[in-house]
Amino acid sequence: MGITSRTIRIGERTYPYSFGEDCLTEIADGIAGLHADTLIFVTDDTVLGLYRTVVERLSGDTPALVLSHRAGESMKTLSCLTEHLETALRAGATRRSVVVAFGGGVPGNLAGLMANLLFRGVRLVHVPTTTIAAMDSVLSLKQAINSPVGKNHLGTYYAPTAVYVDVRLFATLPEDELRSGYCEMAKNCLAIRPVELDRLRAYIAADELATPAALSWLLNASIAAKSAVTRDDTYERRSGLVLEYGHTVGHAIEICDYRVRGAAGIAHGAAIAVGMLVAAHISHARGWLSDDEVSAHYEIITGLGVEPGLPPTVSIADVLAVVDDDNKKGYLTARPDALPFVLLRGLGRPAMTGELPLVHVSLPEIREALEIIAKPSARLAPSGSAPAVGV
Ligand SMILES: NC(=O)c1ccc[n+]([C@@H]2O[C@H](COP(=O)([O-])OP(=O)(O)OC[C@H]3O[C@@H](n4cnc5c(N)ncnc54)[C@H](O)[C@@H]3O)[C@@H](O)[C@H]2O)c1
Repeated sequence: MGITSRTIRIGERTYPYSFGEDCLTEIADGIAGLHADTLIFVTDDTVLGLYRTVVERLSGDTPALVLSHRAGESMKTLSCLTEHLETALRAGATRRSVVVAFGGGVPGNLAGLMANLLFRGVRLVHVPTTTIAAMDSVLSLKQAINSPVGKNHLGTYYAPTAVYVDVRLFATLPEDELRSGYCEMAKNCLAIRPVELDRLRAYIAADELATPAALSWLLNASIAAKSAVTRDDTYERRSGLVLEYGHTVGHAIEICDYRVRGAAGIAHGAAIAVGMLVAAHISHARGWLSDDEVSAHYEIITGLGVEPGLPPTVSIADVLAVVDDDNKKGYLTARPDALPFVLLRGLGRPAMTGELPLVHVSLPEIREALEIIAKPSARLAPSGSAPAVGV
């Protein structure tokens, strides 16, 4: 059906990002054109169960080694990475081998680190099969696994040789996983490119989020938003930090919920969406966001099916106890009882400290915003109307 190609530029690195609908033939041709001696596919058991024939098709005539692990975040470990590396080396991987990430962000990050480590760097191709991987992780050079101490503690930056996406592969995604990508896109719209909000509203209203047209828009619009803030920020340590909008409280909610419900708990995108509501209320309390701008957050987030409050497993005290461990600590001069936070001074306009889109936010301000979203009246707010601050 044809394939569209865009060039992704992140700092000094560029790579092609090609996507389309029913474009496996074009993807297989692109991979064949790399003339690898071996293709090392990194995937998970769920994706392989669904798409073994796709892996075979993408391999074509090139010898292939398929490395698969159990699905899920718990596999982003040093031991899984080591096992895959040893298997690849024992199977005869060389500098001419190409690592192909085929799956979501977890196989993508493991494959990225593998490609970087093998012989100090072999070629890496991403074929993402989740919306999060396609519209977020492969538009970043960050490759990381988790340590026993915390998430994404062990990592590096590595650029792929190419990214290929066939949006048809998203057809089998669970609803939560599909919507997680759209929640990250809601973040991109609210914090970077509000010009895209109407398209997102239209796809939500028409219940068309799973259609190839909406998914192609999701990829295009994500490329535009992420490129706008990472083009001159290879390591996402300056303008790229705006991508952390909603993540300070969102991650805290995710961690607290995971302790109770494990992998069956709140989806990443939903947690980030609730984190954005908290950030919006703090911005509103400072007089930086209007009632309408906070309402736009509620409208989009509830439209994406996210409950606009804390999950029943998580209390305000839980969030405040872990929010302090946020990974943006150190970007601003440390202050007792305050955290670096992405806030907005208007849709698409992050509040800045120097050249960083971060400002100090005190724990009492976070508590006040959490109290607003924890109120039943807030949860029942009709879409399009934000609950009043401080009532
Ligand atoms: N900058 C970055 O590198 C970056 C950015 C965003 C996210 N991430 C990382 O990505 C991970 C989250 O990504 P994810 O949600 O894709 O995780 P994931 O790889 O665990 O995939 C989520 C689930 O979807 C399943 N799945 C994948 N493709 C499928 C398909 N087409 N049909 C049915 N099921 C399918 C997987 O088996 C898994 O159970 C996190 O580890 C996060 O840290 C990294």
